Amino acid sequence: MIKLFNNVATIRAKYNSILNSINDLENEIIELSNNELKSKSLKLKYLCSKIGSLDEQTLIESFALTREASKRTIGLRHYDVQILGGLVLHEGKIAEMKTGEGKTLVSTLPALTNSLVGKGVHVVTINDYLAKRDAEWMGQIHRFLGLRVGLIDTNMTQLKKKQNYSRDLTYVTNSDLVFDFLKDNMVTKISELVQTPFHFCIIDEVDSILIDEARTPLIISRDSELAIEKYIKANEVTKHLFQQKHFDIDEKGKKISLTPKGLERTKILLNVIDLYNVNDPWIPYILNSLRAKHLFFRDVHYILKNNKVVIIDEFTGRILEGRKWSDGLHQAIEVKENVPMLKGSETMASITYQNFFRLYPKISGMTGTAKTEELEFENIYGLSVSVLPTYEEMSRKDESDFIFIDEITKWRSIAQECLKVYSKGQPILVGTTTIQNSEILSHLLNTYNLPHQLLNAKPENIKRESEIISQAGCLRAITIATNMAGRGTDILLGGNPDFKALKATRYILQALVKNDTFYIQGINLKKLKYNLRQNPRLITYFQEELDTLLAVFYTSKKNLNLVENFISDLYKQLLENYKEKQKKESKIVKSLGGLYVIGTEKHESRRIDNQLRGRSGRQGNPGKSRFFLSLADPLIRIFGGDKIQAAMQNLKMDGEVLESNFLSNSLTSAQQKVEGFYYDQRKTLNKYDQVIDKQRQIIYYLRKKILYTLNMRDLVLEFSEGFLDDFIEYLEYCKLEGKSIFFPKKILRLLNRLSISSEIIYQNIENTENLKRFLYEQLWTSYNCKEFQYSCFTDSRILDRYTQLIFFKYLDFYWYKHLENMNFLLDATSWEAYAQKDPYIQYENRATKLLTLSLKDCRDSIIFEIFISNIIITDIL
Ligand SMILES: Nc1ncnc2c1ncn2[C@@H]1O[C@H](COP(=O)(O)OP(=O)(O)OP(=O)(O)O)[C@@H](O)[C@H]1O
Ligand SMILES: [Mg+2]
Repeated sequence: MIKLFNNVATIRAKYNSILNSINDLENEIIELSNNELKSKSLKLKYLCSKIGSLDEQTLIESFALTREASKRTIGLRHYDVQILGGLVLHEGKIAEMKTGEGKTLVSTLPALTNSLVGKGVHVVTINDYLAKRDAEWMGQIHRFLGLRVGLIDTNMTQLKKKQNYSRDLTYVTNSDLVFDFLKDNMVTKISELVQTPFHFCIIDEVDSILIDEARTPLIISRDSELAIEKYIKANEVTKHLFQQKHFDIDEKGKKISLTPKGLERTKILLNVIDLYNVNDPWIPYILNSLRAKHLFFRDVHYILKNNKVVIIDEFTGRILEGRKWSDGLHQAIEVKENVPMLKGSETMASITYQNFFRLYPKISGMTGTAKTEELEFENIYGLSVSVLPTYEEMSRKDESDFIFIDEITKWRSIAQECLKVYSKGQPILVGTTTIQNSEILSHLLNTYNLPHQLLNAKPENIKRESEIISQAGCLRAITIATNMAGRGTDILLGGNPDFKALKATRYILQALVKNDTFYIQGINLKKLKYNLRQNPRLITYFQEELDTLLAVFYTSKKNLNLVENFISDLYKQLLENYKEKQKKESKIVKSLGGLYVIGTEKHESRRIDNQLRGRSGRQGNPGKSRFFLSLADPLIRIFGGDKIQAAMQNLKMDGEVLESNFLSNSLTSAQQKVEGFYYDQRKTLNKYDQVIDKQRQIIYYLRKKILYTLNMRDLVLEFSEGFLDDFIEYLEYCKLEGKSIFFPKKILRLLNRLSISSEIIYQNIENTENLKRFLYEQLWTSYNCKEFQYSCFTDSRILDRYTQLIFFKYLDFYWYKHLENMNFLLDATSWEAYAQKDPYIQYENRATKLLTLSLKDCRDSIIFEIFISNIIITDIL
């Protein structure tokens, strides 16, 4: 507590004078017209982009301008604590502001200010809904001040993406941002790049992205014929292995190891002598198959969607579209599930969030829950955490945990609690950890005849995630949600008018199509009806595009056509009506005690529990939260430790509820233990990941160099000379060791092309310096001839482009192959731990050797193809 107080006091003291200056400017700025505000901001932009940096005065002015623009556009005035939050973000730190404190609004201050330099700012959110909501909602402020706002949608064309990335500020989800980065590193033309160089980003829900998602890399892969048989065979073999006898499971570490008996049995079943043979390893396949069967479960860790295994993020309950477990685990699960169209997959590019966000010169983040992971942010990302106070006193009551002896009693009690609270009318949000649990509770509530909304990671629910969560504060609402619980979605007591108005607009449009005589009291639909009848094709268009259209409604009316204008008016009228209703209903819900959050299991991380609680008691509203737990919950079972086990033995509970401080505290310390455990895991992962990250930087640097080189000559000569140097080195080695020289066929062909016979080499072997000069000259001449030939018959740029494509072809080929090898290397070196060697050092050494070899092979293949091949230019006439 004291620490928090100190922290807040320090923040206030640190930024006090700058905050006062921003506040002082307000009186002056209030007097300015809309146009004057805009030209003031554009002037700032002009000056900052010219100098390329920001000074304190600009910061003060732009914060003050943003606050005023916000008042005039969306009707919200940044509170002083929000200004402080903005200053923390501007300094490249993490601002911890409790859930519901208005972080979305806070981000506008540093986002706009940093965009003035003209190098782009990325505002990163965790899902499409939030990116869109923020671009539309907050975008009004930026646009009002003359800045251009971009929004990235996964399905946009490359051109559209490029346009949106080039805006002053771009709202984008974390996964789109990273996938676009990876794809940009696979293009072969500058014009195909969609992103601009990174400058500054603000990561919303930063703990979710940088900590919870840090363990699964983002991968772009393509189908390949890779070793599928091995996965299938391993799947068969592991059907005959039994726990304890043949293998042991470490539930904590999600690891499985074979017992000596298991090793023997596997060898017999596979009919191989060595499972660890580096050239034909079996052990990774066997262990992955066992992990797939015994540690990864459908509807808990993944779902099947369109016959594909799709990962569920265990922290948020969200499905991670396009993500894959690495190192063959994904394929093992696919085999277990017998997914048709099964194909091996070859990694083409991959990166973790940890390494991706290091590419920005400055990053900052915000969340309601960062302090518990402060150490990790500091050590891994160099980001410090500042805790900001709430604007109003938090009045949510976090009641002590209820603990039940078994799960059945727990779920029954939850259902009974829902019944009791529902009859009062107070809204309830129940958080569950798995899809299965959410469905169990849903069935139970049905038996009690309790109407409720069920939200879990099942594909049919995903689309409506934010919509369902946003209405969780309605009178008498019962909402069951898996952990996703709509992080970032605002829950207004009395319901969310925006979603209601949107739904009603869609409904009215549909009704108008079906029924000409449809009407609603108090709303004039005449003109809209008439115009729709004139142009029936518009109806389908509007129904499909209504969400997109709403973005248009926020922009100036001038840009809308006649029908769009009518729909916009209809939407706005409905919105006003719903806002009125919400105000009234909000008062009733407040008098009933606000939103009641029920947790049904403690998560491994306290942050996730706090996020769930934070759905209630937002903006100083009343609220309540309580966790209903059972002694059979996995956290207690797996991580509870001896103390809890002993307490369980001594407790003689007969279906009674227990409120035990001792147990609650033990649970918290179990959570702390798990957090520490995972932190260590992420730290190790990060250490290993640095190796491949350095290699990625080398390859991407090389790729960029090739991409931006217009004249390929220097690069070709650089590569060829490297090749010749190695060749000379080989000759010297043969000479020294008295070994006979061996010319592989490929080399002979190349020498032949350069008009060098093997005799010349033998004759000059005593003077390698001379020989080297000669070989160099032959090579230069040969390339000059090639250039000359092209310039005579066609445009010499064709040779450059052709050469460039050869470079890409081999660089990508060897890089993909290298990534695959690196996966196996990780497996191989983890066995070294048994042999008392430091596996990390082994891994690093071998990885470096592997890359050197890959790059050498790549270089030789490029040179070979450039000198041996020819483009045949056919005369079109
Ligand atoms: N300065 C302000 N004045 C009045 N209302 C505000 C202000 N700032 C934010 N709000 C309101 O607070 C609510 C919560 O805002 P927002 O969703 O941005 O919070 P958050 O901190 O991002 O929460 P979460 O942690 O859940 O993402 C919104 O309804 C918003 O309109
Ligand atoms: Mg938010």
